[in-house]
Amino acid sequence: MDNTISKKVQQIKPSATFAIAAKANKLRGMGKNVISLSQGEPDCDTPDEIKESAKQAISAGFTKYTAIDGILELKEAIQQKFINDNNLNYELDQLIVSSGAKQALFNTLVALLNPEDEVLVVSPYWVSYPEMIKLASGVPIIIQTSIEDKFKLNPEILEQSITDKTRLLLLNSPSNPSGITYTKKDLQAIGKILSKYPNIMILSDDIYEHTLWEDKFDNIATACPELIDRAIIVNGVSKAYSMTGWRIGYAAGPQELIRAMKIVQSQSTSCPNSIAQKAAACALKLPNSVIKSMVDNFKRRHDWLYPALKDIDGINVIPSKGTFYSFPNISEILSKHNFKNDVEFCDRLLEEANLAIVPGTAFGNSQHVRISFSADDDVIKEAVQRLHSFVLSLD
Ligand SMILES: Cc1ncc(COP(=O)(O)O)c(C=O)c1O
Repeated sequence: MDNTISKKVQQIKPSATFAIAAKANKLRGMGKNVISLSQGEPDCDTPDEIKESAKQAISAGFTKYTAIDGILELKEAIQQKFINDNNLNYELDQLIVSSGAKQALFNTLVALLNPEDEVLVVSPYWVSYPEMIKLASGVPIIIQTSIEDKFKLNPEILEQSITDKTRLLLLNSPSNPSGITYTKKDLQAIGKILSKYPNIMILSDDIYEHTLWEDKFDNIATACPELIDRAIIVNGVSKAYSMTGWRIGYAAGPQELIRAMKIVQSQSTSCPNSIAQKAAACALKLPNSVIKSMVDNFKRRHDWLYPALKDIDGINVIPSKGTFYSFPNISEILSKHNFKNDVEFCDRLLEEANLAIVPGTAFGNSQHVRISFSADDDVIKEAVQRLHSFVLSLD
């Protein structure tokens, strides 16, 4: 073991999605015509009015440290967003702004977990959850779901997974990578189990709230108001307003926990970027119609992609209800053609067909791949053509 790096960090895997994108870029640099459907961000630009508000902030000299938990204007916009979109009422001291939803999630884990505390994570999961939990000294407990269960957490299995050490359940809906959502009824069934275990908190990652075209959005706090004191809601502007590079996310939850998260933030990154906070405040005050055209695009691409994937022999896929991801099962192809695993499949697909997609292993399920449809319609069509030809070439 390398003594220069802490044992904790030696256990942490680097982000697989960034790794595949880097590999695709390298091949592009070598002159190959590579298509990447590995991206985890909207393919359109940040709306002009948001960019304009940032320019004004710079011109006005809004370039200094702000309050650790975010500027009042943005916190009030977040407070109003929760009222308008979710019918949830939070006091300002129940809100904190962070550098992306990722930091809000990380702060929650650091503020909440003691060493050995267990966190229940539903697989397939977003790549960063288990690694973040380990960095915060917790233990990720992975609950597997399958395509047959529509990738949803079964309440009975949830209950079987609970131990004396369980401290937190992490939920993400709409889900990266599966594109599924939890309905109010699903959440109420989960809430019924959790109401028996008062020590367990629930962390709801709502970052894809608006990237949704089927089912009404709900989270554990809207579906089970009796659990609101145990819920931490994380959201942000990254996906909804195509602002991934601006790095603004936020969390809402019990005062005591938010206060602790503020301490964590104060000693790590101080405050989120002042200019980006102004831009995020502008974004949250825009009508939701600004988001609609982006979501319409994702739905159109999905409605083309889903049947096209289904038509490929050996692929089993369910429709996504939101996000910009599809998570097809390729187990038949893997076994028929003796692939060692999904990673080998994706490596060969990239090298032989110039198409980058992400192996399901990164999300906790090695029988799947994640395909992002955050790209032009023509690019998606060409990508599916390449995938189809690659699979046919294996025969
Ligand atoms: C499920 C999920 N949560 C959180 C994040 C992080 O969002 P942000 O860019 O705001 O940190 C991502 C980004 O890919 C995500 O997919």
